[in-house]
Amino acid sequence: MHSNLIDGIWRNSQTALRNENPSDLDDVVGEYASGSPDDMREAVAAARAAFPAWSRTTPQQRSDILDTAGSEILARRQVLGTLLAREEGKTLPEAIGEVTRAGQIFKFFAGEALRMQGELMDSVRPGVEVLVSREAVGVVGLITPWNFPIAIPAWKTAPALAFGNTVVLKPAELVPGSAWALADILQRAGLPAGVFNLVMGSGHVLGPAMLDAGIDALSFTGSQRTGQSLAKACAVRGIKVQLEMGGKNPLVVADDADLEQAVECALNGAFYATGQRCTASSRLIVCNSIHDAFVTRLAERTAALRVGHALAVESQIGPVASEAQLANNLSHVAGGQAEGARLVYGGEHLKRTTRGYYQAPALFADCTPDMRLCREEIFGPVAAVLRAESYEHALALANDTPYGLAAGLCTRSLARATHFRRHAEAGMVMVNLPTAGVDYHVPFGGRKTSSHGPREQGRYAIEFYTTVKTAYLGS
Ligand code: UN1
Repeated sequence: MHSNLIDGIWRNSQTALRNENPSDLDDVVGEYASGSPDDMREAVAAARAAFPAWSRTTPQQRSDILDTAGSEILARRQVLGTLLAREEGKTLPEAIGEVTRAGQIFKFFAGEALRMQGELMDSVRPGVEVLVSREAVGVVGLITPWNFPIAIPAWKTAPALAFGNTVVLKPAELVPGSAWALADILQRAGLPAGVFNLVMGSGHVLGPAMLDAGIDALSFTGSQRTGQSLAKACAVRGIKVQLEMGGKNPLVVADDADLEQAVECALNGAFYATGQRCTASSRLIVCNSIHDAFVTRLAERTAALRVGHALAVESQIGPVASEAQLANNLSHVAGGQAEGARLVYGGEHLKRTTRGYYQAPALFADCTPDMRLCREEIFGPVAAVLRAESYEHALALANDTPYGLAAGLCTRSLARATHFRRHAEAGMVMVNLPTAGVDYHVPFGGRKTSSHGPREQGRYAIEFYTTVKTAYLGS
C-alpha cells in the first residue's frame, strides 16, 4: 500500500483505495491509503507544530528545496507522465506536458521565495514610518481535483511552501498516485517533518475533518457544489478561502475568423484532455456567415480524432476518467437531444480492445442559450454550437452564463480583439487560441461563480498564501 505522509512518517491506513486505469480496467495502478478523520487531525497537528520553525527559515532554504523538487520532477517526467496517464487517462504527451508544467511551477516558486517584498513609507504623522510586510498565513489545507493530478497540487503546494506555510494536501480519490509521487519527491528534497503532509482518501470524510482540525487557509479546486459548501464552512470558522470551481467557457468565432484556425482552437479547447478541463471551450458561439462552414469542418475534424488507450502512440483523446463521469456525459448527450439540439457527431460509448471508459467526442449544433447543454458544466468531451447574428450578439451570448473563467475569440480584426478583451466577463481571455492550456507564470482564475478569493499562480499567488502586516514605527 502507498501510505499517507504524516509528520514525516509514511503511515498505512485501515482501508485502501484501488487506483484503476480508465484506459484498461484490468490494470490496477496501485493500492493507496484511505485516511480517517484521525489521520487528518494528526496531519494538521503536525503541520501546526512545524509552522513556527518553517516560517522562520531563510528564503534560500525554502528556495533550494523547491528547486530540488522541481529538478527531480523534470528529470523524471517520462515515468511520472506514464503514471499520470495511467491513473487519469489523458494521453501520454498531455500527461508529460502536465508533469513538465508541475516541475516548472516548482522552479518558478523557488525564485518567488526570494521575492517576498514589502513597502516602506512615511506616516502622515511626523517622525513615524510605516512598514508593510508579508507573513505566511499558517497551516494551509489543499483539496485538489482529479483532472490535473500533479499540476494543481504543484501550483498550490509550491507557493504555500515558498512563502513559509505548512501544508496538508488532500488529493482527489480517483488519482492518488501523482500526489503520492509528489509527496515522495518533496520528502526526499529535504522538507522537515510535518511541513508537507499528504492525506489521501474520501473527500466526504477528510474535507470536514480538515476544516474541523483547525487549518488557517483552504485552497480548493473542484465542483461548484462542494466549493460553495466548503466556503460556508470556512466563513463560520474564520478560515481564509480560495476556490476554483469550473466554467462554461465560450469560444466566439467572428465572421472574419480564419476558418482553419478557429476549428483548431475549438477542437483543442473542447476535446483535448477529453474535455476534462475547467477551461474547456464548451460553448462555441459562431457568427452567421461562417457558421455552416465551421460546423461542417469541425465535425470532420472531430470524426477524425483517434480515441484510445492513453499510452497508445496513436491516441489523440484518452478515455473519460471514471465510470461516473462517463455516465454523466452520456446523460448530457441524451438530454441535449431531448432538448432539441442537433447531434452532429459522436456522443456514444466506444468499445476498444481494453475495457475502458471510452467516449466519442460529441458535437451539438442548433443549440439555444437556455439549454442545459449551454448552461451546465459537463466536464467531458461535449461541445455545443450556438449561432450568433453578429459579433455583438455573440459577445452577449458569451457573457450570458453564471460562470466567468475563460473566454476566447477567433478574429482577424485587432479592433474586435481589443473590444472582446475589454468586454468579456471572464478572468482570462484568449484571442486566436484555445480557452484551455494556460501558462504557469501568470495569474489564473475567474469571475462570477467560477472563482472566489485571490488569483492562483504567477506573482499573484502571494496574495492568498501570505497575510499583510502594517507596522507603525515611531522614533
Ligand atoms: C489549463 O487549461 O491548462 O481544473 C489549466 C482545471 C483548471 C486548470 C486548467 N483548474 O481544469
